Amino acid sequence: MPHKPVEIAAPAGKLGVLLPGLGAVSSTFIAGCLAVLRGDSRPIGSLTQMGTVRLGKRTEHRMPLVKDLVPLAGLPDLVFGGWDIYEDNVYQAALKAGVLERTLVDSLKKDLSAIRPMKAVFDKKYVKKIDGPNVKKGRTKMHLAEGLVEDIIEFKRKHRLDRLVTIWCASTEAFQRRAKVHESIAAFERGLKDNDPNISPSQIYAYAALMAGSPYVNGSPNLSCDIPAILELSRAKHLPIGGKDFKTGQTLMKTIIAPGLKARMLGLHGWFSTNILGNRDGEVLDDPASFKTKEESKLSVLDTILQSDLYPELYGKINHKVRIEYYPPRGDNKEGWDNIDIFGWLGYPMQIKINFLCRDSILAAPIVLDLALFFDLAHRARMAGIQEWLSFYFKSPMTNPGIYPEHDLFIQQTKLKNTLRYLAGEELITHLGWEYYQDDYVSPA
Ligand SMILES: NC(=O)c1ccc[n+]([C@@H]2O[C@H](COP(=O)([O-])OP(=O)(O)OC[C@H]3O[C@@H](n4cnc5c(N)ncnc54)[C@H](O)[C@@H]3O)[C@@H](O)[C@H]2O)c1
Repeated sequence: MPHKPVEIAAPAGKLGVLLPGLGAVSSTFIAGCLAVLRGDSRPIGSLTQMGTVRLGKRTEHRMPLVKDLVPLAGLPDLVFGGWDIYEDNVYQAALKAGVLERTLVDSLKKDLSAIRPMKAVFDKKYVKKIDGPNVKKGRTKMHLAEGLVEDIIEFKRKHRLDRLVTIWCASTEAFQRRAKVHESIAAFERGLKDNDPNISPSQIYAYAALMAGSPYVNGSPNLSCDIPAILELSRAKHLPIGGKDFKTGQTLMKTIIAPGLKARMLGLHGWFSTNILGNRDGEVLDDPASFKTKEESKLSVLDTILQSDLYPELYGKINHKVRIEYYPPRGDNKEGWDNIDIFGWLGYPMQIKINFLCRDSILAAPIVLDLALFFDLAHRARMAGIQEWLSFYFKSPMTNPGIYPEHDLFIQQTKLKNTLRYLAGEELITHLGWEYYQDDYVSPA
């Protein structure tokens, strides 16, 4: 039976979308939103803008748009801002990224040029391959965090915003394991004051965003809000957090194909994935420490989907390799090759080859839009802590301690849509469907 809808505050007023990192993904996202608002482009790839949710029985034909089922902020209410280590405004950043055609970027020049990066919190130790002048100075990491909080409060005041969402779209930081300083908010705040080397810039942004009342989302694979200290703070401030690593390109394909192989009980000997990529993200990932962060995120996907502990005969001995090669001529137009060695009936081997000529930021931009709107929804619905129902968008979804993440795109989609039904007070859909065959099937006692 339907239940009472969850109380959700109306999305009144303006929503600020703050982006640490105004590079390829951010500029493609912002320019795309402006082009859609102007009415000459479509928000393809965005579930919040184009998706529907089935409600009730199939005979009822109720299929509202997501944005008509739950109260989401509208595109006209979004105000964009962010930080970067370079001084380029978003118009210049979009041209440098080279993702969108120059004519489109030029047609949005006035609005894009008005978005100038605030001074970043940056530490070369965490991103070795780049350096820039637009960086905050501060005696301690606590001073840097306070500087970010001031930026956020000032941005909110200046643009008369009602609410905020912060989404990390900056470079992938070097691989890092959890340290003592990450274990509680008290330890973390002490570490900020003592300049603890284990506190990375992205963790400082996560802390500052929550302190300033903004939900925080991590779009890259580095350790950021997935530490106990930030989880504790998100609960104390009653704000949503989530991540990590936008699920685009090759991993998106992996999480579409691997569940299909498992569903049909087809075995897997190995999966070799290689990419060539020529944008700044590719350059950053050319550093082994940053690549290790990405590799960990990409490798974990197959293990969880295939459940080798349950199916040792099919998935017990998989050779899984992931390579990323920085190849500048390719720019943002990445090319990925997958060679998948599978086996079927009586162990007979077969192969699947995938050659995906994708555009990284074109796949990432609608994810940023959906996450901004859904995290704002979660905030207004008073859902604090980790938003596992948004795993759909991430390569390494965060979960509460003790729960393994769901990587299968279709389970993630069901979880997301059932959460929307739940919020709207609609019946959840189990796909059992006995009611359509009442005369044919024996009803359960
Ligand atoms: N494009 C995709 O499909 C995709 C998928 C998953 C994850 N990601 C992640 O999203 C992030 C952005 O990707 P991109 O292609 O836009 O990269 P990009 O290199 O074009 O942009 C990143 C920007 O972040 C800036 N930056 C670095 N450190 C910063 C800091 N501490 N504070 C503020 N700015 C900082 C850089 O100067 C750069 O302009 C990367 O971490 C990437 O791994 C992208």
